[in-house]
Amino acid sequence: MIQIAPSILAANYAALGEDVRKVANADLIHVDIMDGHFVPNLSFGPDVTKAVNGVTDQFLDMHLMIEEPERWFDTYVRAGGDRLVFHVEATDDHVGAAKQCRELGVQSGFAIKPGTAIEPYLDDLEHFDQVMVMSVEPGFGGQKFMPEVLSKVMVLRDRIAEAGLDTIIGIDGGIADATIAQAAEAGVDAFVAGSAVFGAVNPAEAVERLRELAREAAQA
Ligand code: DX5
Ligand code: ZN
Repeated sequence: MIQIAPSILAANYAALGEDVRKVANADLIHVDIMDGHFVPNLSFGPDVTKAVNGVTDQFLDMHLMIEEPERWFDTYVRAGGDRLVFHVEATDDHVGAAKQCRELGVQSGFAIKPGTAIEPYLDDLEHFDQVMVMSVEPGFGGQKFMPEVLSKVMVLRDRIAEAGLDTIIGIDGGIADATIAQAAEAGVDAFVAGSAVFGAVNPAEAVERLRELAREAAQA
């Protein structure tokens, strides 16, 4: 299954509703929450999330680049988040945090920075609906894709298959026409794209093209 998730971090905030409607053909919307502590940048919070949720029925994937993510779970569920993707580097209890997400009635996911090893988390995948492999240092859009993280994708792919799980593998950062095929070949299911979608003249066409490139590469 191939999913394209435009990141509204790269949208025009003065016309956010319009930009979200432009990508009505996307499988889900990626919402980057930054607190200026876990990452050296600020983005938006629950009120903007709520506003986005008000203009679309699409699934909202909440990428929580924040410290103490558990404190905010309830807030982002009430704001309309459908999956809470917190960073393993931001919590001491990733399994407990995943259970909290599911108890709140939403999906659970963890994101993992480029420099963090995946091995310590492989036995806990059953608690997660998604693993988001970061292919840039979190904090900013428009960075260069780091192909070295694809080895983590391959390890995840094998483990998910072995364990018979349906955990989705996501990738986030630097995904564009030139990079999406290698990620799809490695086994990624869900592709976040910010600048490649909202930087395009026609964002819906960019989504379609990325989906086509990923499908072709996944079948090869
Ligand atoms: C980076 C964010 C990404 C960002 C991706 O910290 O998590 O979701 O929006 O932007 P691009 O696709 O431009 O690399
Ligand atoms: Zn993100």
